[in-house]
Amino acid sequence: MSAGADVVVVGAGIIGLSAAWRLAQRGASVTVVDPAPGSGASTVAAGMLAPVTEARIGEEPLLRLNHASLTRWPAFAAELEEASGRRIGFRTDGTLMVGLDADDRAALDDLASRHRAMGLEVEPLRGREARRLEPGLAPGVRAGLLAADERSVDPAAVVAALEVAAAGAGVALVRAPVARLVLSPAGDRATGVALGPPAPDGEGTGPGAPAAGDGRELAAGTVLLAAGARSGFVPGLPDHVRPPVRPVRGEVVTLRQPTDDPLVTRTLRGIVHGSTIYLVPRDDGRVVVGATQEERGWDTRPTAGGTYELLRDALALVPGLDDAELVGVRAGLRPGSPDHLPIIGWTALDGLAVATGHFRNGILLTPVTAEAVAALLSGEPGPDEVRPCDPRRFTGGAVATGAVGP
Ligand code: GLY
Repeated sequence: MSAGADVVVVGAGIIGLSAAWRLAQRGASVTVVDPAPGSGASTVAAGMLAPVTEARIGEEPLLRLNHASLTRWPAFAAELEEASGRRIGFRTDGTLMVGLDADDRAALDDLASRHRAMGLEVEPLRGREARRLEPGLAPGVRAGLLAADERSVDPAAVVAALEVAAAGAGVALVRAPVARLVLSPAGDRATGVALGPPAPDGEGTGPGAPAAGDGRELAAGTVLLAAGARSGFVPGLPDHVRPPVRPVRGEVVTLRQPTDDPLVTRTLRGIVHGSTIYLVPRDDGRVVVGATQEERGWDTRPTAGGTYELLRDALALVPGLDDAELVGVRAGLRPGSPDHLPIIGWTALDGLAVATGHFRNGILLTPVTAEAVAALLSGEPGPDEVRPCDPRRFTGGAVATGAVGP
């Protein structure tokens, strides 16, 4: 075993890197292990920071958590840009939801009354008022709802900035797969991870990073599983602490619109002949169109059918995008949890914590998750809104009611 870090984080997506950054800022020695940092769901995500337009009746704890994270985003974005010297595409234009035909308008009215029942702020708009805000919308758009406080960010830029900020705070990044979780001889404590074979380009990076791969073990006081949908599938993970995450596929299409005369100037969410779609603009002219939602295992190949549906509905909503450049198509795996709440905190196995299960809200929930992980792993209570996310609600063991520690 290596001499060891305070914390080994499994997974260099947006959750693992942000938690590592926050832990290092508190003085912990942190190593993050991932064969391909930022290659999972984080960089496929559109980056909507959308607690209102993602809200579902019956998910009030998630709504409170989402709001708690949205309020943290402006300071988090400013601090990350300052620490990394990089821009992360944080936009404050709000979200406009629209309905295309008469049935879509009825669905939008229904949504507005559900939003009101949850105490959420949305402004109803007539079709022409929606088109005044977004002239690229199809002439047939019947009605709109404006969620002015919603934000968006470019998740790939956030991940790139987090790699820089985390390295600057002393986090070591090892580009290798985790072959298994290492337990104490009695099996009652996580004590590190064993690495799989090295990445093709060999070495790890960051201050003090050991060489990647080769089956060595990295010892750690705490192992944090932050590997998205794969968090429950690390070999050696005892069943009684396995987070119940599953892959929920989402496919997105990226277009490019002219930056001097953009057709989409804020996040648009549409109900288009009964289907739902969103379009999220970036500062450089890209527009991310998403997303499918399918449970079909680990397959991340884009499909003709998914791409067709997304483009069909995007062009029905904003016909001028017909001329937009088709930049690419990608699919990622959201980490779904049984109750749609993330799974954040200590498990019933000493030395093992998790931060996963963020489902449709991983980008939005990054600041509050990173803060919670850093607090919990330091023996502090963490934000109140994170308490319902305790991993032991699924797997047994005492559920946290106050400060918890290993
Ligand atoms: N948050 C949007 C999605 O998961 O597609």
